[in-house]
Amino acid sequence: MSDYAFFRKQFMPLSEAKIGVLTHALHYGTACFEGIRGNWDSKQERFCIFRIQDHYKLCQLTRELVERSGYQEDVYIRPLAYKSSETVGVRLHNLEDDFLIVVTTLPPYLDTENGVRCCTSSWRRVDDTMIPPRGKICGIYVNSALAKTEAWENGFDEAILLTQDGHVSEGSGENIFLVLGGKLITPPSSDNILLGITRDTIMKLAKNELGIDTVERQVDRSELYVAEECFFTGTAANVAPILEIDHRPIGTGKIGKMTAKLQKLFAEVMLGRNPKYSDWYYLVSPKAVTA
Ligand SMILES: Cc1ncc(COP(=O)(O)O)c(C=O)c1O
Repeated sequence: MSDYAFFRKQFMPLSEAKIGVLTHALHYGTACFEGIRGNWDSKQERFCIFRIQDHYKLCQLTRELVERSGYQEDVYIRPLAYKSSETVGVRLHNLEDDFLIVVTTLPPYLDTENGVRCCTSSWRRVDDTMIPPRGKICGIYVNSALAKTEAWENGFDEAILLTQDGHVSEGSGENIFLVLGGKLITPPSSDNILLGITRDTIMKLAKNELGIDTVERQVDRSELYVAEECFFTGTAANVAPILEIDHRPIGTGKIGKMTAKLQKLFAEVMLGRNPKYSDWYYLVSPKAVTA
């Protein structure tokens, strides 16, 4: 079992996939990535690669990579498209492109069982007029990294970033939802969020399974403080309850009812166990893994 890469059109152990030190993307952040979950279902002994076709179209390549890795635990699949020319000079034109995929293991990113403590970041979320926030563009993640480390150094688990005009945008690597007045609310795409696939999944599960519509609207910082419930969503984070923001308990300070229901529904679909959502599942069987 080992981390594996598809690099320069070949499969290889990750330790053999190397790029030159002058690679454009390394210096200027000129790359974009995806993050895809391969959830290992130990009961069914298979992976459910979740909503792969909504992330990208390279299903067969990804299947082969997961098979070659030999893992039988949750994996994280990281495709990266990048400017590969080994040259100095800030631009996007007249550069070569390349593409790679890495498969590695996925330790828990946030504490989904006990919930997380957050702060409002002193850093503001990058605006659409600066770098398109809809994409996972590598350079943009310096913004996320500044916010995450500031939060961590101040003793919090995660940061919540506001927009330039002070509305709630999202976490450093997650979308955010709140329950306020019994309504499920999440910031709109116009507030510089990444339009997450987990966000979309939760909105669909809330609608289909609980009959709850999600309101996409601008959210004030102080609405977070008076919310009954709050949680993050993301491929790495899954559904992570937020129990405290800026030292203020959210609701009862415990995992809320709606959050718990959505966590349960999400746990089923991410393992490919609810047949109603079979379009979301790309199953890799153990036979293929050991073949
Ligand atoms: C900045 C940011 N927001 C939100 C998300 C959640 O998106 P998804 O649910 O597609 O993983 C991510 C995931 O990497 C992210 O990096």
